[in-house]
Amino acid sequence: MSKVALVTGGSRGIGAAISRALQQAGYTVAANYAGNDDAAKAFTDETGIKTYKWSVADYEACAAGAARVEEDLGPITVLVNNAGITRDAPFHKMTREQWGQVIDINLTGLFNMTHPVWPGMRERKFGRIINISSINGQKGQFGQANYSAAKAGDLGFTKALAQEGARANITVNAICPGYIATEMVMAVPEKVRESIIGQIPVGRLGEPEEIARAVVFLAADEAGFITGATLSANGGQYFA
Ligand code: CAA
Repeated sequence: MSKVALVTGGSRGIGAAISRALQQAGYTVAANYAGNDDAAKAFTDETGIKTYKWSVADYEACAAGAARVEEDLGPITVLVNNAGITRDAPFHKMTREQWGQVIDINLTGLFNMTHPVWPGMRERKFGRIINISSINGQKGQFGQANYSAAKAGDLGFTKALAQEGARANITVNAICPGYIATEMVMAVPEKVRESIIGQIPVGRLGEPEEIARAVVFLAADEAGFITGATLSANGGQYFA
């Protein structure tokens, strides 16, 4: 029986590439999404990967969603916490709402999604949790006090949980993508984006598949000795 992987935000952007790569590596994949029904339907039609709608900001919905995936596909052995949003603004213009939305999804979402699958992983003595953080959680980013705080929090969460999961053969790792060619990065004003590309030694944005490759690596049985790690994939823009 193939292993089951749940990818949050798994029908678009980096998440879609992760879902596809895990499917190609032999996993049965469930792709969670929160809003875009059309994109989810198109993704399922194209890949055969089942999509499931709920918000990672909602604890009850995460518990119910994980239970539904397990009923349909079997026990979740790989969880990829990928769902994330930006609400960029310089701090003097940032609203409480922009702060809260980003913390709820990009940080608390990891608690909400990991908590329901954790007991099963502990019982079965196997699990892979892969958290998609960001270069901007490592270095901070002008206009992203909310996002940088959440993504840095994801790294602390990863390191704490790695210690708790170790004896149960559950690894917990983080990947910090740099600037990847997705809708999220394309939404950055063009002038700002050009200046960011100028700061990337490889001279280009990353591709979603270059992050997906790292997820497949960390998910493998053979990666069992790697836990609590932060893997940067940023074209040389920042060395943590
Ligand atoms: N450092 C210093 N100053 C900066 C700056 C920087 N990096 N970026 C902008 N500024 C300055 C501008 O020069 C300008 O200065 P003046 O007022 O003196 O002209 C000022 O900040 C801009 O102020 P505004 O009030 O006009 O700001 P704004 O409301 O237009 O918002 C912004 C600016 C939202 C921060 C915009 O610059 C922006 O979107 N920046 C990109 C932020 C970013 O990198 N986001 C990443 C999104 S992708 C992602 O998050 C994925 C991932 O994980 C990597």
